[in-house]
Amino acid sequence: MTSMQAGRTASANLDMADLNITSVTHAHLLACVNTELLARAVPGRTLRILDAGCGNGELIRVLDVALSAWYPDCLVEVYGYDVGDHGVQSAGFFDSTVRRLSEESPSVDWTERLHLIGASSGWPFPDEYFDIVVSNQVLEHVDDHLHFFKETRRALKQGGVALHLFPLRHYLWEGHLHLPLVHRIQSHDLRYAAIKRMSQMGIGPFRKSKAAGEGRQLADYSELHADYVWHWTNYLTESQVYALARQVGLRASLRYTPEFYVQKLRQLRRKPAVRQYDTEGRALTDALGAKCLRYASSVTVRLESTNSYHLGVHGDEGGSAGSEPRQ
Ligand SMILES: C[S@@+](CC[C@H](N)C(=O)[O-])C[C@H]1O[C@@H](n2cnc3c(N)ncnc32)[C@H](O)[C@@H]1O
Repeated sequence: MTSMQAGRTASANLDMADLNITSVTHAHLLACVNTELLARAVPGRTLRILDAGCGNGELIRVLDVALSAWYPDCLVEVYGYDVGDHGVQSAGFFDSTVRRLSEESPSVDWTERLHLIGASSGWPFPDEYFDIVVSNQVLEHVDDHLHFFKETRRALKQGGVALHLFPLRHYLWEGHLHLPLVHRIQSHDLRYAAIKRMSQMGIGPFRKSKAAGEGRQLADYSELHADYVWHWTNYLTESQVYALARQVGLRASLRYTPEFYVQKLRQLRRKPAVRQYDTEGRALTDALGAKCLRYASSVTVRLESTNSYHLGVHGDEGGSAGSEPRQ
């Protein structure tokens, strides 16, 4: 079945296998979003999801097709934005994104749902608009994380969640260069020398591209890649994620991080991706698992716009109004 055939009219029985999901990251984020929506989807509700840093729009397509089919009693609206002045994408990429989604899912006016903005601009959406914000492989490229977290907080409804899949600084492998540890080296000279030496030794793609008759001389290659890591990536540590979340008033955890590996293993064993996760009673496993897995690949950061103490004190939810939490 092509993605066109698996369009928005598909039924609630639509399988993961019918969705033509080409990336395990997309399968994982879809399962995370679906797990979150199961608790939120009340018939008649509009469920709004934002893909921040949506790139070519493939995750938007997957979310739009799957969730429209799985939540027929709700109105599912998927939105996206990306930035035009970051430079990691080529010029004109966003026009292709809008064109592509408009061709694949013509029942939606994508010119209204998709926006290209400046990296330091506010996101072009009202306050408390989204049930879910997702991003895939974006946070390791964001220059101003505090701005990104503030906008996440502003754009999320009360009780809404953000799900960000990306590599932390702990990751031992630099996934863009396919070389170990080079993103942790601050000195340009040392980073350049490390890239050059490892490439000479046959680590990473340099030798292969040379053998295929492509590309640059070793010195040029090493310089270009040393600059890419320095100027176009900005890796966070786990502690920085928690500090940012606290600063803007979001709960944070690495829930769903182990599940990404489950999806990866299933993909390796050619088993269909799972559609939802059971995270009940898994807090300790998730936290300890993430402590190890952050070295091996991307983590999933879950941010939640909820503050039960604030609601208890200032809201109308009853509880311990005006008092400290009981010990
Ligand atoms: C590796 S690409 C991932 C694209 C897409 N999410 C995907 O899964 O294919 C990283 C993306 O992050 C975007 N980006 C960089 N800085 C950003 C920011 N401050 N806010 C949102 N997106 C940003 C880039 O423009 C680029 O599209």
